[in-house]
Amino acid sequence: MSDEEVNELAGGIAPTGVPLAEVPESSAEVHSREGHLAASGDALLRADEVVAGYIPGVSILNGTDLYADEGELVGIIGPNGAGKSTLLKAIFGLVSITSGTVMLRGEKITNLKAHQLVPRGVGFVPQSNNVFPTLSVLENLEMGVFLRPKKFRQRFDFVADLFPVLADRRSQRAGSLSGGERQMVAMGRALMMEPSVLLLDEPSAGLSPAMQDEVFFNTKQINSTGVTVVMVEQNARRCLQICDRGYVLDQGKSAYTGPGAGLIDDPKVVELYLGTLGKAR
Ligand SMILES: Nc1ncnc2c1ncn2[C@@H]1O[C@H](COP(=O)(O)OP(=O)(O)O)[C@@H](O)[C@H]1O
Ligand SMILES: [Mg+2]
Repeated sequence: MSDEEVNELAGGIAPTGVPLAEVPESSAEVHSREGHLAASGDALLRADEVVAGYIPGVSILNGTDLYADEGELVGIIGPNGAGKSTLLKAIFGLVSITSGTVMLRGEKITNLKAHQLVPRGVGFVPQSNNVFPTLSVLENLEMGVFLRPKKFRQRFDFVADLFPVLADRRSQRAGSLSGGERQMVAMGRALMMEPSVLLLDEPSAGLSPAMQDEVFFNTKQINSTGVTVVMVEQNARRCLQICDRGYVLDQGKSAYTGPGAGLIDDPKVVELYLGTLGKAR
């Protein structure tokens, strides 16, 4: 893709997202790796130089940095296979981290497992197989809070408030719901444990455009109740429109970060993201 094409795609707007690796020395903004680190000082959740993978000796994440401030809605976009899901799974203890750290409220949580993370306030909604299809909506939500059953009533009310349709369909088997409703069950289940940070892996994937809108709306709603959200999305444009800050992940590294609305108009991001997507087609 030529520079002109990239610029045209980006609407001719000057770059606002800044690469983590190469930052002009004159830049007053702090967007270098050091700057990113400094800005992330009191983040609720942070991952620093995370190296992780599935097979010993083969790393998928090659020193990934990410942080999310309390109350922030952070989006992660990037080409297929960039390691976006791997990053969420590594934070949630499903992929082992061989070097680097993950911290939650200043406490090291690197390689803790799900059962240790959930009580600490981390929720995770995987991309697929995220509901128990043969169980009812209510049973799915009960599964979410089985560690603290006394919380059920209060948390159910919270979830029903966000997703009234789930209350209406509480007796229905989750497997019989539409894709969008299943996604609500999955998010609802994670919310039952009152997470302070929710990790969402491609919540809009496979949904109709109308349902995708609903998922983005719901995500924003969840965030507005005070839950910090880190969301991976294939729908980059929509994701960056709603998030406070975005990351572009490429080849297991955080390549760019910046305000969501800025990244979407950044020709470099358009080039990196659409360029690689173009190749995949
Ligand atoms: N369970 C797994 N075992 C081995 N390799 C995997 C596994 N899951 C993903 N990978 C590899 O890790 C890389 C990153 O995958 P993933 O994190 O799913 O990317 P993304 O979510 O950005 O599309 C890919 O090369 C993929 O083939
Ligand atoms: Mg993925």
